[in-house]
Amino acid sequence: MTETLLEIDNLNVDYETARGDLKALRDISFDVGRGEIVGIVGESGCGKSTLISSILRLTAPNTRFRQGEIRFKGEDLLRLPERKMRDLRGADISIVFQDPMQTHNPVLSIGRQMVDIQHRSRASKAEKRELASQMLGAVGIPDPEARLDQFPHEFSGGMRQRIAIAMALMSEPDLLIADEPTTALDATLEVQIIERLKELQQKFHCAILFISHHLGVIAELCDRVVVMYAGAVVESGDVREIFHNPKHPYTRRLIECDPGHIKERARVLPTIPGEVPDLAELPDGCVFRERCNQAVHRCASEVPPLELLKGGHYAACWLNRVEVEV
Ligand SMILES: Nc1ncnc2c1ncn2[C@@H]1O[C@H](COP(=O)(O)OP(=O)(O)O)[C@@H](O)[C@H]1O
Ligand SMILES: [Mg+2]
Repeated sequence: MTETLLEIDNLNVDYETARGDLKALRDISFDVGRGEIVGIVGESGCGKSTLISSILRLTAPNTRFRQGEIRFKGEDLLRLPERKMRDLRGADISIVFQDPMQTHNPVLSIGRQMVDIQHRSRASKAEKRELASQMLGAVGIPDPEARLDQFPHEFSGGMRQRIAIAMALMSEPDLLIADEPTTALDATLEVQIIERLKELQQKFHCAILFISHHLGVIAELCDRVVVMYAGAVVESGDVREIFHNPKHPYTRRLIECDPGHIKERARVLPTIPGEVPDLAELPDGCVFRERCNQAVHRCASEVPPLELLKGGHYAACWLNRVEVEV
C-alpha cells in the first residue's frame, strides 16, 4: 500500500449565482497516493477545474465550500491559514495549466522567471540559473543554457508547455496538478509531453493529478482514473480495469467517443448526444439518465450511490445492482 498524499473527502462545492446555487461538486471522494498518477476525465462543465481550484484554494469569489475536507499529508487545506496555503502552492503542490501563457510573464526572460521562482532557495544566482538550465534540458528543450535568455513568445506552444512543466517541477513538489495541459496541442506534441511527464515522474517521484477530457491520454499516463459527470464521481478505479470493463454507461460512451478508439477517420468526432444537465437545477434520480440508453425505471427517481464493485473499482449505476440481484 502506498502512503496517501491527498484525500478528497465528501467535498461539496457550490457557486452562488443569480439563479440560485449551482452545484459544481457533489460528494466527491477519492485519494491520491504518494507517487501515484491519477487522471480525472469528464466532458467540459463537469467540475474538473472547480475541483483543482478548490484543492489549490484559488477559487472564484462566489465559490462556497458547503461540506467536506481536502486533506494533504493529513492536513485539511480548507482550514489552513492563507499564509500556509501560499507556502504550499508552488513548493509542495505545483500546477500546470492548459494555456502556459497564463503562467509565463511575457516581459521577463524564461531564465529570469525560473530564477525568480526559486526565491525560497539559498543557492546563489549562478546556481539557480544552472538548475533552471538543467530543468529545461530535462523537459527536452535543446540548448537550454542559450534559451534561458529568450522570452516566452520566442518559444512554440509545445515548448512553452514544456517550460511550464519544468517550472512546476523546480521545487520538487509532492503533487503536480495538470489541468488539461495538452488540450491546446496537436496529437504529436501531446504524445511527446505525455512521454516526458512519465519520465519526469519516475525521476522526481511526485504524484500527478492529471485532468483531461481525452481518455486515450489518461490511459497512456495514469495508474488510476476518476470519471466525473455533472459534478460527481460516477466511476473510478485502475485505468486498465476501467478501460476493459467499464461499469458506468457514461464511461462507456466516453471510451466510444475517444479519438483513439475511432478507426475510420471521421470528419466529425462523435459526441455523446445531449448535454450535461443544468447544475443549478439538477434532475431527480441519476444525473446521466436523460442521456443514457440503458436507463431503467429506478434511474428516474433514485440517485445511484457510488458503490465498490471489486478491488478498488467503484461505479454509480443501478445496472450493476440489477446484475447482482437478478
Ligand atoms: N465562478 C463561477 N460561477 C458560476 N458558475 C461557475 C463558475 N465557475 C464555473 N462555473 C460552472 O461550474 C460548472 C463546472 O465548471 P468547471 O469546473 O470549469 O468544469 P470543467 O473544468 O470540467 O469544464 C460549469 O457549469 C461552469 O459553468
Ligand atoms: Mg476545466
